[in-house]
Amino acid sequence: MKITSVETRPLAGQKPGTSGLRKKVPQFQAPHYLENFIQSIFNALPDKTGASLVLGGDGRYFNREAIAIVVAMAAANGFARVIVGQGGILSTPAASHLIRQRKTLGGIILSASHNPGGPQGDFGVKFNAGNGGPAPESLTDAIHAETLRISQYKIADLGTLDIDHIGITQFDGFTLEVTDSVEAYQALMETLFDMAAIRALFASGFRMRFDALSAVTGPYALRIFEGLLGAAPGTVVNGVPLPDFGGHHPDPNPVNCRDLYELAMSEAAPDLCAASDGDGDRNLIIGRGLFVTPSDSLAVLAANAHLAPAYRAGLAGIARSMPTSAAADRVAQKRGLALYETPTGWKFFGNLLDAGKVTICGEESAGTGSNHVREKDGLWAVLLWLNILAVRRESVKSIVGAHWREFGRNYYARHDYEEVDSAAADRLMLGLRERLGALKGYRHGALVVSSADDFAYHDPVDGSSSAHQGVRIMFEGGARVVYRLSGTGTAGATLRVYLEHYEAGPAGLDADNHAALAPLVAAAQAIADITRLTGRAAPSVIT
Ligand code: G1P
Ligand code: ZN
Repeated sequence: MKITSVETRPLAGQKPGTSGLRKKVPQFQAPHYLENFIQSIFNALPDKTGASLVLGGDGRYFNREAIAIVVAMAAANGFARVIVGQGGILSTPAASHLIRQRKTLGGIILSASHNPGGPQGDFGVKFNAGNGGPAPESLTDAIHAETLRISQYKIADLGTLDIDHIGITQFDGFTLEVTDSVEAYQALMETLFDMAAIRALFASGFRMRFDALSAVTGPYALRIFEGLLGAAPGTVVNGVPLPDFGGHHPDPNPVNCRDLYELAMSEAAPDLCAASDGDGDRNLIIGRGLFVTPSDSLAVLAANAHLAPAYRAGLAGIARSMPTSAAADRVAQKRGLALYETPTGWKFFGNLLDAGKVTICGEESAGTGSNHVREKDGLWAVLLWLNILAVRRESVKSIVGAHWREFGRNYYARHDYEEVDSAAADRLMLGLRERLGALKGYRHGALVVSSADDFAYHDPVDGSSSAHQGVRIMFEGGARVVYRLSGTGTAGATLRVYLEHYEAGPAGLDADNHAALAPLVAAAQAIADITRLTGRAAPSVIT
């Protein structure tokens, strides 16, 4: 095996964020850019000699080229084995599972999640550790430090790699294993859910549409829903992963999945409409005539999880990210379960899951998952819904309605102001932080601020602290507004404003979500002075 050491120098803009390094494709194609980052990951891993690595991506533009580079660099850096998904395809939860199942040192996932793909779209590289979860901050900091002092990278000449056929290729001291992208993941799902009950549900005439948005979940959904579970052919649409996702914006919300949403609201609606994102970790759930907000979905799944075999013994606890609505808290309270409130980002759930403190976790951004892997999992959420529907034999709407009757309703929305000038966004956040103490008693219409803070998290497992995770404004009566800046955007800043208003009892059943939140929206605008500071009269996306 011929190994070359290539001289290089540090390149700007290689600080990995909460979801690894995300940049535009042309940036990743620039000379040494990908290679520098991969070498920096490897330099930060002291135990790599003789180790195994899982590798796969969501199939977006540049995936195959990047796979070839990472394999050749892993071989040159002393790894003994790389396990790559067939065709370079692995969904994020499937990669997390493989890392755990095969006990590898970790894995590299090539994805920019829900960001658009294609030659001018986004690309990303993320390292997951041996527990299957996103690298902890200590490791991403170490990787960043390596990017600042890199002087060379190592790459092997392995010739043209065949990643399209399942099997093993031996090189001198290095093994490339191409594995089925779906098989191990599907087997895991079969241990969690009552597949016979779901099969019987489909056999009874239950109809579903699953939109894979031409992203990674297509092959998984086809094999599991249409193959294993006998859903009608055509249940899965946009089921072939394409480098540009067929032009879809693979962020599964009612805005991007407009066709699916309109179908779900129409006379011809199937019983369940669902979708996932670019790399398969997010989910969208729409029942006939009802979009289930991710926060509500988390609460309903937590309240009903015991209907699926894996969770029959009950949950150890529930975790949600801070901006996620408190709907899950009501379930935890009533069931006597611990509830953990963490900063935004899946990595904060890892310690809680590893320590056995929680079984189910979720975020308002359409991520839900459990202790079966260390990532959120889109298809898992759809399968858990299907398992619950198969047992209860009620509509999604009736299940959610019953849930609101029992636990009350948390009206909820997120307003995003995208590609805002970064300096203006920073000024807005700073302005809020400086006024936290002064906001108590502030009145806007009938709303009165009862307290305000900047969320800080103390990890109960490793004792670490994370400060400045978002400004929270609480109102008398339980309403809440949260402001934070996105950590995953690739252009300018994105201001996220999260709005929540709780109503106990059956009154809210037929009420319109956005109408219920209108006074809070006005207060949120006024308190942060959004229009004046950002020049935006309205958010660019409301979910
Ligand atoms: C967004 C979501 C967050 C999620 C992350 C990665 O991060 O809000 O919940 O964990 O993507 O999928 P943000 O852009 O808000 O920092
Ligand atoms: Zn994703």
